Amino acid sequence: MYAEIAVALAAGLLSWAYQTIKPPPPKICGSPGGPPITSPRVKLSDGRHLAYREMGVPKEEAKHKIIVIHGFDNSKNLSLPVSQETIEELSIYFLFFDRAGYGESDPYPSRSVKSEAYDIQELADQLQIGSKFYVIGMLSGASLVVPFVHYWWPSLPANISREGFQKLCTADQRTFQVAHHTPWLFYWWMTQKWFPSLSIMAGNMNLFSPPDMEIIKKLSETPKGGQEMTRQQGVHESLHRDILAGYAKWEFDFMDLTNPFPNNEGSVHLWQGYEDRIIPFQINRYIAEKLPWIHYHEVPDAGHLMLFKAELCEAIIRALLLG
Ligand SMILES: *[C@@H]1O[C@H](CO)[C@@H](O)[C@H](O)[C@H]1NC(C)=O
Ligand SMILES: *[C@@H]1O[C@H](CO)[C@@H](O)[C@H](O)[C@H]1NC(C)=O
Repeated sequence: MYAEIAVALAAGLLSWAYQTIKPPPPKICGSPGGPPITSPRVKLSDGRHLAYREMGVPKEEAKHKIIVIHGFDNSKNLSLPVSQETIEELSIYFLFFDRAGYGESDPYPSRSVKSEAYDIQELADQLQIGSKFYVIGMLSGASLVVPFVHYWWPSLPANISREGFQKLCTADQRTFQVAHHTPWLFYWWMTQKWFPSLSIMAGNMNLFSPPDMEIIKKLSETPKGGQEMTRQQGVHESLHRDILAGYAKWEFDFMDLTNPFPNNEGSVHLWQGYEDRIIPFQINRYIAEKLPWIHYHEVPDAGHLMLFKAELCEAIIRALLLG
């Protein structure tokens, strides 16, 4: 009798644990009951769709083509504060897209740093952007603006990694540790109510330094244009998956990177704000020291949102196209 009750309790507990660990399936755009498809999309060779948005000079006429990769919890609707005059003067075509699982792009449960790069390549091929284009990424690319850093990169010295990691609040440290060491628990971690998880999602404004707060204030004065559908397919395949992919083991080591433009046919820039509280400067500064072909711009009074400040956005684009 007791044994049976124990077994029933254990089974109940297991199924409850399973339910709390297992993320719900995403609501796929265009599927029955899912959100509608309102944007143009390309179909990738593996059958997934990527939604995109074009801006600026038509691609057939443009002198420069830039693919913009959005950051965490954002989408192809992000608006860059670049003036119409600059767009025309430099003849720029911009291509924005929703990364997998965001907005109207299909989720991709095996998303990784590498698959994100292949998605960009395939998108550029399908839209016939040509073999030469620029990338501005808040994740990775050729103009890396406050790019993601990984605290477990094997070639990062422990003292540098520690110095950066200690800058984060305890809740974020724990969240990144769970993502890296026990990714199978990540959904539970992000949805449990006992401990604070990711501070950016909890709306913790301490994450933003004074220069960031100024930008947030300015952005809030103009009506927010269409970011609300960013997570419409579910938070797991958009937000959680970003952190999981970011803190998984990478397919390459940054120390093995070589200059992709040995004859100066292009350039790689890395922009980092000294006042960035989300991506601590220590690690990107170290990478730039080790890879001297990267043009490193450490902006003293800038934070994480520097790309959304008009002067800096223009400077980032000019350095990339003309530098
Ligand atoms: C990290 O340690 C190395 C030697 O192990 C030392 O040369 C370097 O100055 C240290 N860097 C920092 C930022 O503490
Ligand atoms: C982007 O804006 C368009 C047009 O306003 C809207 O239909 C779409 O849902 C928005 N996408 C996201 C991800 O918010």
